[in-house]
Amino acid sequence: MQHVAAAITFVHNNKKRRDRASFSIQLCRHSTFHAQMQFVIAAVTVAAATAAVSAATPAALTIFVIQVHALVVQHVCAFISVSCHFHRKSSSIVGTMGKYAAWPGRKFAKKLLLIWNGHIGKKKKTIRVRTEDGSPLESKVAIMPGKTRFGNNLDILNFTPASVFNFVRESTAKAKGKNYLWYFLYAPMYNVVRPEEAEEVFQSTKLITKNVVYELIRPFLGDGLLISTDHKWHSRRKALTPAFHFNVLQSFLGIFKEECKKFLNVLEKNLDAELELNQVIPPFTLNNICETALGVKLDDMSEGNEYRKAIHAIEEILIQRVCNPLMYYNWYFFLYGDYRKHSQNLRIVHDLSSRIIERKRQQFQQKQLGEVDEFGRKQRYAMLDTLLAAEADGQIDHQGICDEVNTFMFEGYDTTSTCLIFTLLMLALHEDVQNKCYEEVESLPEDSDDISMFQFNKLVYLECVIKESLRMFPSVPFIGRQCVEETVVNGMVMPKDTQISIHIYDIMRDPRHFPKPDLFQPDRFLPENTVNRHPFAYVPFSAGQRNCIGQKFAILEMKVLLAAVIRNFKLLPATQLEDLTFENGIVLRTQENIKVKLSKRVT
Ligand code: HEM
Repeated sequence: MQHVAAAITFVHNNKKRRDRASFSIQLCRHSTFHAQMQFVIAAVTVAAATAAVSAATPAALTIFVIQVHALVVQHVCAFISVSCHFHRKSSSIVGTMGKYAAWPGRKFAKKLLLIWNGHIGKKKKTIRVRTEDGSPLESKVAIMPGKTRFGNNLDILNFTPASVFNFVRESTAKAKGKNYLWYFLYAPMYNVVRPEEAEEVFQSTKLITKNVVYELIRPFLGDGLLISTDHKWHSRRKALTPAFHFNVLQSFLGIFKEECKKFLNVLEKNLDAELELNQVIPPFTLNNICETALGVKLDDMSEGNEYRKAIHAIEEILIQRVCNPLMYYNWYFFLYGDYRKHSQNLRIVHDLSSRIIERKRQQFQQKQLGEVDEFGRKQRYAMLDTLLAAEADGQIDHQGICDEVNTFMFEGYDTTSTCLIFTLLMLALHEDVQNKCYEEVESLPEDSDDISMFQFNKLVYLECVIKESLRMFPSVPFIGRQCVEETVVNGMVMPKDTQISIHIYDIMRDPRHFPKPDLFQPDRFLPENTVNRHPFAYVPFSAGQRNCIGQKFAILEMKVLLAAVIRNFKLLPATQLEDLTFENGIVLRTQENIKVKLSKRVT
C-alpha cells in the first residue's frame, strides 16, 4: 500500500492536480511519513501484543486494539483509493490514478471490492430509511444516486470548501424541489431543503441532538450550549436565557457605540481606497462579544492579537476537517492533519478565557451580587456574571463556564462579521437601497451617544436590509441533527444514527416562498409582505427549541454599526457577486476578500 501511495504521489505531482484529488493527497502527501508511521505502528503493535500476551493487562490490550484498528483503517483507506480506479464514473479520482491500470494487485482489489460492496449492500438493508405507511420511499424524498457503488461515500472524498458548497447546491437542484437522502457507510443523511418538512425537525422535541459534524468543534467548545444535549442543554439554556433579556442588551449599547467609533476612525483612514471588509469587520465583532460576554476589552489586553489569530487558525483547521471525511477520525487527524497547530491554538484560547474567568470570579465574589436589585426587581447579569451566579448556586462548574464562554465567543463573533460583510457589500451594490437606508438613519439624533435602543428598534427598513442579506447569504448555511433512536420524521422511519442536515441556505432560496430568490429585495420583509409566508421559510437563526439565543444581540450590534457607516459614508462597489467563490465552512465564506470603496457623505 505504501508503494501504491508513493506512486500515486508521483503521478499526482506530475500532473499538479492537487485540488482534484484531496483524498489521494491525504494518502500520498505524507507517503514517506506514512511509511515511517506504519513502521512505528507495527513496532508498537508488536510490543503491545507481546505485552498483552505476557501481562494481559487491560491497558496493553487497549493499545493493541487501537493500533490494529489504526493499521486496518489505513489499509482500507488506501484500498478504497486504489479501487476507485475501477469505477470510471469517479472521474476526478480516476484521472489522478489512470496510470495504474496495469497495477498487479488489480484482480485482488477487484475481488475485495466485490466483497466490500456486498457488505455495504447488506448494511444498507439494515440501515435503510423506509416510509411509515409502506408507500415507496421515492414518493417522500429523492434518493441521490452515488457516483460509485459505495453509496454516496466517495462522492465527497476529494472536496475543498468551495466544492462542498457547489456539491450541496447541485444536489438540491437535482432533487428538483424535494428533500433528499444520501447513503453513507456510517448512516443515511436526510437533507432538508423545504420549509414544510424543516418545520417538523425544528419543532421536534426528540431531534435536539447535534450531528457528527459538531464533534469536530467539541475540542474547542466542549459541552457548551451549541453542542450539548438533553438535560445539560436544557438547564444551561434556562440559566443563560436571562442574560439576553432586553435590559441586559440595553446595557451593551454603550459598548457597541464605543467600538463603532473606533471602527469609523479606521474607515476615515481608508477613504477612496478599496477597503477589505474581511480585515476590518472581524476585530469589531470580536471586541464587542469579548467585552459583553466577558467584561474585558480585548484591545487593552496584551494577548488580544494572539487570541484573535488563534481563533482564526482554529476555524481554518475546522474547515479543513469539515471537508475531508477521513479527518473526522481523530486518529487520522492526529497523524495527518494539523493536530499540533490546532492544539496550540486551542491552548491559547482556552488559557485566556480561563484566566479571565478566574479574575472575574474574584471580582464577582467581592461584589456579592444579589438576587434582586435595590428596587426588589430580579437582577439580570451579562453572560459571564450569569454563569458565575449559577456556579455560586452549584449549577455549573469551572469547566462548564469555560465551555459556555468559548461557545459565546465563537458563535457571537464570526456569524455577525459574516452578516455585516455581506450587508455592506449589498448596500454598495444597490445604491437605491442604500439611499433609502440613509433617509431612515438621518432621522436619528445627531450625537450617536443619544440614540436609544428604542430608536434603533424603529429602524424598520434597515432591519429589512439585514434580513434580506441574511436570507441570501446566511452566516450559518446549514445545521445538523441526528436521530438518537429510531424516529419517525415527515412520514419516514429514520433508523438510529440517521444524520439530518437542514440546508438553511436552500430553504431561504425556495422560489415558492421567495420569488426571484437571487435578487436582493429588502421589501420582501416589510410587514405587509410577510403575512402569508410559511413560518419556517425564513430561518437564518434556526427555529424551535435550539434557535439562536443571541439573535437580538446580533441584530442590535449590526444596526449600530450599519447606521453609523451609512450616516457618515457612501458605499461604492469594488467587488461584484460574480467575482465571488462561495465556501461552506462552519459559517458561509468566500475565497476572495470582499471589498468596498468609501466616500465621505456631505450633509
Ligand atoms: C448574524 C448573527 C448570527 C446568526 C446568523 C446565528 C445563527 C445561529 C444558528 C443558525 C444557530 C443554530 C445552530 C445549530 O442548530 O446548530 C445558532 C445557535 C446559537 N447561537 Fe447564534 N447566530 C448569530 C449570532 C449569535 C450571537 C451574537 C450569539 C451570542 C452572543 C450567538 C449564540 C448562539 C448560541 C449560544 C447558539 C446555541 C443555542 C442552543 O443550541 O441553545 N449567536 N445561531
